[in-house]
Amino acid sequence: MTITPTVDGSRLLRRLAQFASIGATPGGGVNRQALSIEDRKARRLLADLAGARGFLVYQDAAANLFIQRPGRQPDLAPLLIGSHLDSQPGGGKYDGALGTLSAFEVLEALDDAGVTTERTVEVVAWTNEEGSRFSPGCMGSMAFVAASLPDEWLDMTGADGAPFSAELSATLAALPDAELRPLGHAVSAYVELHIEQGPILERSGVAIGIVTAVQGTKWLDICFTGEAAHAGTTPLQYRRDPMAAAVQAIAALQASVMQGDALARLTVGRIAVEPGSINVIAREVRLTVDIRHPEADKLQAMLQVVNAHCAAAAEGQGCTVTLTERFDMPPGRFDEGVIEAISEACRSCGITSMPMVSGAFHDALFLARVAPSAMIFVPCRDGISHNEAEFVPDENVILGATALLHSTVRLSAARASGKGFSQIWATDAGPC
Ligand code: GLV
Ligand code: MN
Ligand code: MN
Repeated sequence: MTITPTVDGSRLLRRLAQFASIGATPGGGVNRQALSIEDRKARRLLADLAGARGFLVYQDAAANLFIQRPGRQPDLAPLLIGSHLDSQPGGGKYDGALGTLSAFEVLEALDDAGVTTERTVEVVAWTNEEGSRFSPGCMGSMAFVAASLPDEWLDMTGADGAPFSAELSATLAALPDAELRPLGHAVSAYVELHIEQGPILERSGVAIGIVTAVQGTKWLDICFTGEAAHAGTTPLQYRRDPMAAAVQAIAALQASVMQGDALARLTVGRIAVEPGSINVIAREVRLTVDIRHPEADKLQAMLQVVNAHCAAAAEGQGCTVTLTERFDMPPGRFDEGVIEAISEACRSCGITSMPMVSGAFHDALFLARVAPSAMIFVPCRDGISHNEAEFVPDENVILGATALLHSTVRLSAARASGKGFSQIWATDAGPC
């Protein structure tokens, strides 16, 4: 006999706490950066939980981790649900973990209720969504949709100097029992649950955001080069100071880009100075710039503005500057059929929802290139994220997982059809 599947809220909250203890920081957050020992421990725990339930666990060459619960028609492409387990260096307990563990809760809830879905349902934990240790972000989903690992990643070193290839191999080796399968496979649809990471839902008093689009992001590495010289003996006219150039460029960008366009975002998140000595004029200053905009042409125009201000500042200080684009994720829209399925799932459970655009990038934006995709957002306190203080009230955790469960029930009932995806998911999935 099957019963209506229900999220086990206390199990999910317990799991969140258990994973938050892996890489826990004294400030109450997590430091579980991509491919680190802590990341490997979290993957090990998830694989063990899956094994204990009898679910198949496998990984691919990008160390994306999959957990499979077979459907009635195993030949149909699976429905994929999940997120990531890696964190920012001083990250919160929910960014990524909430979506991954809620997806796993969905598999358990289906299992507990004895529901056999039509399609196989797979949970995924993508590798390196954050991009702070190894850049770019979304490496796992990017490699999955391209069905290969770009060669240039293999020689990369991380922000901590660790070689990417060795860390990737060690992460794969940490799950010797998980079968290694080829990168990239057919997916019928992808749904990712995530915290909103901004204040809109909380301020609106709405339980769920249904993400219709994601704004575009570009990451730039900028290097100002001058000449190292003595801090005390070098008069102004003899200095070629890259620090002065960098400061001037940053000030000019702060005064122009976001002031002129309320939708534009510009962040300088990291600065490194060589040789980095109190009494030496720097030889080199490297900085990262993250720019975002919902419109692709405006994002491109922002890149030109960054270029122009950096060139002018470098010239003014007798320095040179190079700008390297590390990551280019154009804005993208999600699939109307999947959006409608999530919206129906919320309606059927009496959960309030509203459409919204994501200011953060997500693996779902890459998945949307190969499969109908959309996202479910839950509110977080004061909109704070990428911060140890990130917090999601328990009731929002449970509502989010419930919305994901009922979206999964609808989308996994889809039968193969010549029609567009919006027409093929079952509308008769019933109430919660
Ligand atoms: C994701 O972590 C982002 O920076 O948007
Ligand atoms: Mn995230
Ligand atoms: Mn993040």
